[in-house]
Amino acid sequence: MSTDAIDPQRFRHVLGHFPTGVVVATALQEGGTPAGMAVGSFTSVSLDPPLVAFLPDKRSTSFPKIRQTGSFCISVLSGDQEQVCRAFAARGGDKFADVSWHSAGSGSPIIDGAVAWIDCEIQEVLEAGDHYIVLGRVLDLAVGTNAAPLLFFRGGYGQFTAASLSAPARPDLLAHLRVMDCARAEMEQVAQESGCECLAVNVVGDEIVTIGSAGQSYGQAPADRIGQRMPFVPPLCDLFVAWAGEDVREQWLRRLGPDVPAEDLAAYRDMVNRVRARGWSMALGGRSHIAFELALAQLSMPRPTPEQQRAVREAARQVGPHSHEPDELVDDQPYRVRNISAPVFDVSGDVVLMLTLIGLPRVSRLEELASYRDRLCAAADRITRRLGGRTPVAVEDPLRGRSAASTG
Ligand SMILES: Cc1cc2nc3c(=O)[nH]c(=O)nc-3n(C[C@H](O)[C@H](O)[C@H](O)COP(=O)(O)O)c2cc1C
Repeated sequence: MSTDAIDPQRFRHVLGHFPTGVVVATALQEGGTPAGMAVGSFTSVSLDPPLVAFLPDKRSTSFPKIRQTGSFCISVLSGDQEQVCRAFAARGGDKFADVSWHSAGSGSPIIDGAVAWIDCEIQEVLEAGDHYIVLGRVLDLAVGTNAAPLLFFRGGYGQFTAASLSAPARPDLLAHLRVMDCARAEMEQVAQESGCECLAVNVVGDEIVTIGSAGQSYGQAPADRIGQRMPFVPPLCDLFVAWAGEDVREQWLRRLGPDVPAEDLAAYRDMVNRVRARGWSMALGGRSHIAFELALAQLSMPRPTPEQQRAVREAARQVGPHSHEPDELVDDQPYRVRNISAPVFDVSGDVVLMLTLIGLPRVSRLEELASYRDRLCAAADRITRRLGGRTPVAVEDPLRGRSAASTG
């Protein structure tokens, strides 16, 4: 049979029986206008070097805009982002009007709520009939939300529900449950002794998730607090970055977007170094924190809207690098403390949980804070030991008497 005999409609119909995921390929044009298109032809290509590809139609008006920037970012859409897909499959118009996004390292938009993202520079654009094959060299990539992906099959949208998804997800869930199980009694005790609320917080993908609460609730009912998600952006949860590799820290910093002043980036890095040196973390309160709390309270759980998430991310940016981990801790100075946190480590020395005390007296002197901090750190160290983990030695702690600082 000659190729002439292949009717385009038949071609589409038959190929439509091959299911695909759906991604959005984006780039940020000069002048700051974003461009993007929905793509079903995305694929991984090579591990060494790390290459991916997608196939834009030569008639696409968005691809030339992406091509001109020399880079692109792929956002893998989640099952509840069908509307996002429709917006990016439309020709023309402002595709980003109802979509919230933040910047990848290349400046290209990452669609908020994406299952994963892959930031690339264009390595090569090959001719392929009425399409191009765009080879992208991967610069950075990460898992986003924990949601199931959006699928496209026989002209319709669907979600992935096969049993195989629960298999890889289950060990993850079990790990969280095991950690919480070990932590619960300690959290209750530290909450009772301190009269504060003790939260258990974890990082899932690029989000911070509150997975446990003990003691008298501060501000929010525990039912609202548990499962609360917020973006894992600086300066939030620097504890999860302090003992991780440089790549994790830099990825965390990149979530702030491309236009962060160099001195702010340096201040965030100093902040992280201080946490590692001290072995615990402290967030100071202020006006920007009130705005941040308000933005958090607006999140409609369990599925906050992109606008709400954008507002939280922006509020976190406004908090900035100077309200966490004050440089010098001075004994007789009063501090407006928002919370203090201590890390729980696993066997490989990774932080698997953060214990946070909130609702401390608003203004405290350092000596007063020491007793809260000692209780919290001791509880975190006991949980670490129960998990078979190892607490690294704090190298410099201006607060005396950290009982477990020498736990090996
Ligand atoms: C599920 C889905 C998958 C798509 N996959 C591709 C693709 O792989 N390549 C492509 O050129 N267009 C693809 N499209 C269509 C483009 O998104 C759309 O034609 C294009 O964005 C039109 O707008 P533009 O002129 O702004 O590029 C897909 C659309 C949908 C809904």
